[in-house]
Amino acid sequence: MLKGKTIVLAVTGSIAAYKIANLASMLKKLQCDVQVLMTKNATNFINPITFETLTGNKCLVDTFDRNFQYSVEHVALAKRADVVLVAPASANVIGKIANGIADDMLTTTIMACPCKKIISPAMNTNMYYNPIVQDNIAKLKRFDMEVIEPDNGYLACGDIGAGKMPSETVLLDYILREVQYDKDLAGKKVLVTAGPTREAIDPVRYITNHSTGKMGYAIARDCMLRGADVTLVSGKTSITPPPFVKVVDVVSAADMFEAVKDSYKDMDYIIKTAAVADYTPAITYDNKVKKSDDDMSIALKRTTDILKYLGEHKSDSQILVGFSMETENMIENSRTKLEKKNLDMILANNVKDEGAGFGIDTNKVTLITKDTLTPLPVMTKSEVAHTLMDTIKNLK
Ligand SMILES: Cc1cc2nc3c(=O)[nH]c(=O)nc-3n(C[C@H](O)[C@H](O)[C@H](O)COP(=O)(O)O)c2cc1C
Repeated sequence: MLKGKTIVLAVTGSIAAYKIANLASMLKKLQCDVQVLMTKNATNFINPITFETLTGNKCLVDTFDRNFQYSVEHVALAKRADVVLVAPASANVIGKIANGIADDMLTTTIMACPCKKIISPAMNTNMYYNPIVQDNIAKLKRFDMEVIEPDNGYLACGDIGAGKMPSETVLLDYILREVQYDKDLAGKKVLVTAGPTREAIDPVRYITNHSTGKMGYAIARDCMLRGADVTLVSGKTSITPPPFVKVVDVVSAADMFEAVKDSYKDMDYIIKTAAVADYTPAITYDNKVKKSDDDMSIALKRTTDILKYLGEHKSDSQILVGFSMETENMIENSRTKLEKKNLDMILANNVKDEGAGFGIDTNKVTLITKDTLTPLPVMTKSEVAHTLMDTIKNLK
């Protein structure tokens, strides 16, 4: 929740302006004070009434509007703001901010704002790559503003290229990183593995597991929001990774092992989610007959146990956490794994429990260390991630 925080959304004249209605609504649900500033041109793309209805606040467009709560509203709001997001940021407004122009309510308030300013450029590719725009963006960065790299994709003008405003969830993460939590994991390096691995049977087929990556991504996101330096080693998922996280894409369990081996030494916390044993196929053919799928047998060979390797190689100061997905004897089996693999903590869950398991947004886990056993109720995966990190940071 963001109770007591004031978030300023500054909307300019771009077709992407309509997406900010959704962002305003998402923020309002987090219980913060959402204030929307618009340029006059932005009101051609979305009506201020939309924002006023969603936020419960007057949408500010005109610096000289006398119908304000405060006599000098742009200064009052600038003082109150915890963070300002300019999204979509037009080439025009980027140019104005970079060059100290304050000729409307939006640019005047930004000029008066001492808080963090995040800018999300959105425009046609040729406009975006115009050296003047690039120069202005470089200037914003020099003045400590956070500039969100636009996505590549199909643009409203019909062109394909860079210039697309990232999704509302990405914009939200930029805001949350500024205001949601104390940076209690600043300086900590965290390695998280997530998602399924794929073992090729042949160039066409593969075997895999049911992991979707949701738990691992939630942990990576929580750590990022709390200021940690996060590396996410991820199998193929359909989830957009959180911003500010270094993502290492992998396909097979062997790729995951290599990626982990390359990076675990520097880490403070190593968290291996997706507690599934991976198997790689060894194919044999009945050699009396012509090689065809009909004659194929597949034997499964266990891939390297990454968690066990980490337990054998980690230093005393590193914290290693694993997950244990059980169908029976959950606590005993998980305790055995904790001990055998030299883990500092294991999160046990039972796939048969309601609210736990693959693909869903909730989980029901028990945190197990050598000396403690903490069953948690059904929680969202984000809440599990937060509780996990609260516990880990007090372990050593
Ligand atoms: C349909 C339409 C879409 C536009 N989309 C963008 C855009 O995505 N980015 C941009 O920088 N300008 C865009 N423009 C041009 C701006 O609206 C124009 O430069 C305007 O002066 C910007 O005003 P403002 O920066 O005060 O909001 C668009 C114009 C039109 C008519």
